[in-house]
Amino acid sequence: MSAVKEARYNVLKPYLGKVQHAIGSINSPMQCMMKGICAQCLCKHVDAESGKEYFVYSCYNQDQDLDKVDFPHLNARLRQNSVQEKLSNLWLDYLLLKQQA
Ligand code: FES
Repeated sequence: MSAVKEARYNVLKPYLGKVQHAIGSINSPMQCMMKGICAQCLCKHVDAESGKEYFVYSCYNQDQDLDKVDFPHLNARLRQNSVQEKLSNLWLDYLLLKQQA
């Protein structure tokens, strides 16, 4: 979605004419899917005009304004989850090996 956001202002601009409002499905990490309970899905937005930062629950609305989503922040959150998933897999492998011994 970040590439789509950028393309609208670069390679696609001659075809789009005036840049249109764009909505994209944001794939942020999720846990409870209960719209505001665990906050695992928090997604940082930045208002381009005022520069004001705020957070939204992606499980409440995955379809978000592409021009407001802070994609570097989203990428960092996804990579953080990746580390936790790898550690969980290593721990599970260890426990399964220990059980077989
Ligand atoms: S996934 Fe838990 S509040 Fe959104």
